[in-house]
Amino acid sequence: MSAKPVEFVGEPVEPVSSALLELSKVTKHFGGLAAVQDVDLQVNPTEIVSIIGPNGAGKTTVFNLITGIYRATSGDVRLEGRSLVGLSPDQVVRRGITRTFQNIRLFNNMTVIENVLVGLHTQLKANVLGSLFHTPSVMHEEVDARKRAIDLLSFFGLTILLIEHKLAVTMGISDRIAVLDYGRKIAEGLPEEVRRDERVIAAYLGTPSTRGEQAPVDERAAE
Ligand SMILES: Nc1ncnc2c1ncn2[C@@H]1O[C@H](COP(=O)(O)OP(=O)(O)O)[C@@H](O)[C@H]1O
Ligand SMILES: [Mg+2]
Repeated sequence: MSAKPVEFVGEPVEPVSSALLELSKVTKHFGGLAAVQDVDLQVNPTEIVSIIGPNGAGKTTVFNLITGIYRATSGDVRLEGRSLVGLSPDQVVRRGITRTFQNIRLFNNMTVIENVLVGLHTQLKANVLGSLFHTPSVMHEEVDARKRAIDLLSFFGLTILLIEHKLAVTMGISDRIAVLDYGRKIAEGLPEEVRRDERVIAAYLGTPSTRGEQAPVDERAAE
């Protein structure tokens, strides 16, 4: 049997980023408020990346910028190297991004993750009353169910960008975690690194009143 040299044929490789989703210097102003400021983020194929941060950090705004609900004031969002800026939510979906909901109790408009979660709910031990009153044991089971749902999704090779308030949900499942606070990315790294990061701890431990006092005045407020 004669060995034939392997031939490489096909399209020339383009010198683009290997990231599936790439945010560069993404900024969104609402009037004078910088809800998201200069956020860079890359999500590589089959990666699970979580964006976490306290209330008001800018997580939902980032999601809305990616999915075409909002248009960035400046910066770029690219999927497979092509910009999503200016596309409608429908067009973004057609490019391959599917959005799921933060609240697992939204039973209409269910997407993959909700279906997975509803399936897991049937296995949960909590009773109906417990579910209604949101007891600690139920919340613990929900966190666990969300983790397993994401594990299931990643098994199918999906690339997942998870927006989550609770650090605990993201810990065991994320390849990488980015942390937002006051619209800026204050940390990014492996879950263990992020959990130990002093700025992250401070952002999560600060009470609303102390955080209000410490909030920097937005210099662009007059814009
Ligand atoms: N449509 C909007 N108009 C004005 N301000 C907004 C709007 N959406 C969000 N914000 C403000 O932007 C900041 C970030 O909000 P958001 O992205 O919802 O944070 P998170 O999801 O992390 O809680 C907050 O200060 C919020 O009040
Ligand atoms: Mg939010």
